[in-house]
Amino acid sequence: MDIAVIGSNMVDLISYIDRMPKEGETLEAPDFEIGCGGKGANQAVAAAKMGSDVMMVTKVGDDLFADNTILNLEKYGIDTEFAVNVPGTSSGVAPIFVDPESKNRILIIKGANKHLKPEDVDQASEKLKQCSSIVLQLEVPLETVYRSIEFGNEHKIPVILNPAPATKDLDFDYVCKSDYFIPNESELEILTDMPVETEDQIAEAARSLVHKGVKNVIVTMGSRGVMWVTKESIQTVPSHTVNAVDTTGAGDAFIGCFAHFLVKDGNVLEAMKMASAFAALSVTMRGTQTSYPQASELENFLSSKIK
Ligand code: RIB
Ligand code: NA
Repeated sequence: MDIAVIGSNMVDLISYIDRMPKEGETLEAPDFEIGCGGKGANQAVAAAKMGSDVMMVTKVGDDLFADNTILNLEKYGIDTEFAVNVPGTSSGVAPIFVDPESKNRILIIKGANKHLKPEDVDQASEKLKQCSSIVLQLEVPLETVYRSIEFGNEHKIPVILNPAPATKDLDFDYVCKSDYFIPNESELEILTDMPVETEDQIAEAARSLVHKGVKNVIVTMGSRGVMWVTKESIQTVPSHTVNAVDTTGAGDAFIGCFAHFLVKDGNVLEAMKMASAFAALSVTMRGTQTSYPQASELENFLSSKIK
């Protein structure tokens, strides 16, 4: 097994809207799509699409979304031995609103994801021990995230921590125990209380985390690219200019693809470059997982850029 994603799954209920309705107003919107999402599942699918062997430790409810979520993961070849039903609970859902500028607003109702417990990590330990990397986000209880980080440390498995959605409750001691800490700009702002308007400010905020003991801070900055900050250096990879249609799940695309390349050859800068292109391609299409390119599409995109 290459990658274990211990985290969330959601069903994305995506409305493509002209604008948000006002209070008391009923407003028609042009389009709707339902799709499998959730930051954890999206990251797992991104890595699997690139060719990694991926397992997920996750919880679904006992509603009509549950089986479909597991079938969807299996469709991408993801190991679902530890994707477990919670009786009497709804699956996680995410009503998402995408405006004509392709900007999104996301509500998450965690449902069964709230029931992913530290014990679930230990129950999967035999399989988890065989993984080359553990990937985490914050849509499941923090105790579970902390247990997963400890597990990675105990078994010398590199841990990638994506603090999304950001919460100030995140215990910094655990952040320091992760190997790659990957926030976007707004998550960095929430976690550091520092401004992130300019690239210099982003570098400053990321450096403050490094000073506190975080090994690798990698900030995804959307159209401004990706910045990698360590004690020794700051390196930035530019983004690709694309025609943005739906940016939902682009951050997850980056994380999953980054994990894939990190496990494959351990070259951080190269993994950032590949993941940045992968994420750029994902925003050119609607939806989350369904918009992630295949490995061959990523190769074609990159070779067309070189010409
Ligand atoms: O990051 C995008 C994801 O956030 C969506 O798929 C939605 O489910 C929410 O978890
Ligand atoms: Na997309």
